[in-house]
Amino acid sequence: MRLLVLGSGGMLGRAVARDAARLGHDVVALERRDLDITDADHVERVVTAAEPGAVINCAAYTDVDGAETHEALALRVNGDGAGHVARAAAAAQARVVHVSTDYVFDGSSREPWVESDPVAPLQAYGRTKLAGEVAVAGANAEHAIVRTAWLFGAGGRNFVTTMIGLGEERDEVSVVTDQRGGPTWTGHLAPALVEIAERTGDVGVFHATGTGECSWYEFAVEIFDQAGIACRVVPTTSAQFARPATRPAYSALGTEREPGVFLPRWDRGLAAYLDEGKALAA
Ligand SMILES: NC(=O)c1ccc[n+]([C@@H]2O[C@H](COP(=O)([O-])OP(=O)(O)OC[C@H]3O[C@@H](n4cnc5c(N)ncnc54)[C@H](OP(=O)(O)O)[C@@H]3O)[C@@H](O)[C@H]2O)c1
Repeated sequence: MRLLVLGSGGMLGRAVARDAARLGHDVVALERRDLDITDADHVERVVTAAEPGAVINCAAYTDVDGAETHEALALRVNGDGAGHVARAAAAAQARVVHVSTDYVFDGSSREPWVESDPVAPLQAYGRTKLAGEVAVAGANAEHAIVRTAWLFGAGGRNFVTTMIGLGEERDEVSVVTDQRGGPTWTGHLAPALVEIAERTGDVGVFHATGTGECSWYEFAVEIFDQAGIACRVVPTTSAQFARPATRPAYSALGTEREPGVFLPRWDRGLAAYLDEGKALAA
């Protein structure tokens, strides 16, 4: 199938473009400099010309704290831009796979959120991503909205690279215990997105994260353990570690779909990511 991957310069997009090609698809991968998804006319021209079977949209405004002060810009990309992509795909009779986030939930649950649970984002980023979900569903009947979370992978700054950087400079680092979620390796999510792109007719919202859940504190402990870095992790709370955007206290995702999307455990994803880094460095 011809797959058009948007946002292919980003952390997830590059993994999707690579894995789609590895899985035998004919891939057209576009970075932001090739196609700005806020330009509706350009999006329509490019999608029409590519004649894709499906479009996988990984392009987004992803600065969660920055969105607090730049919500209109974030909305143009995450809301309007997502709609332009879905509309252009519909006009080209292509399926759209759109990536969304656990931050559409308010964190008040104590068990994994499923696809039909009520959404109530706590911060600007989540509001703009939710606007994107609504725009995509309204613009293209053949849509898959895939919510994921806590991504880490090659080619992007993420919690793992941040912790390893800090761990190499300091003896201890404080990390919050009161936010729990599902870390997800892009190397596990990317082939699942390609598989979802192939599932013509299977439409709606999908949840896809690394199996299991943890707090950021537990994630940091596991990172140092697996990376062999001697750095003490000091438990702290969100109140003590204030940031511009409020994060949900609990955003682990489960699924009620049949068939659901199941990725390997998050700590196996971490091991694979660290191995990949060692292989690249070797
Ligand atoms: N990272 C996470 O923890 C996480 C968690 C849940 C969901 N997600 C979702 O997963 C998807 C991929 O995120 P990611 O972590 O791979 O983020 P990322 O590394 O920031 O990638 C996003 C890409 O989108 C591009 N982009 C921004 N504005 C654009 C525009 N107007 N037109 C075209 N491209 C544009 C960015 O280009 P520039 O770099 O040039 O701006 C970047 O290459 C997003 O939908 C995000 O909301 C991420």
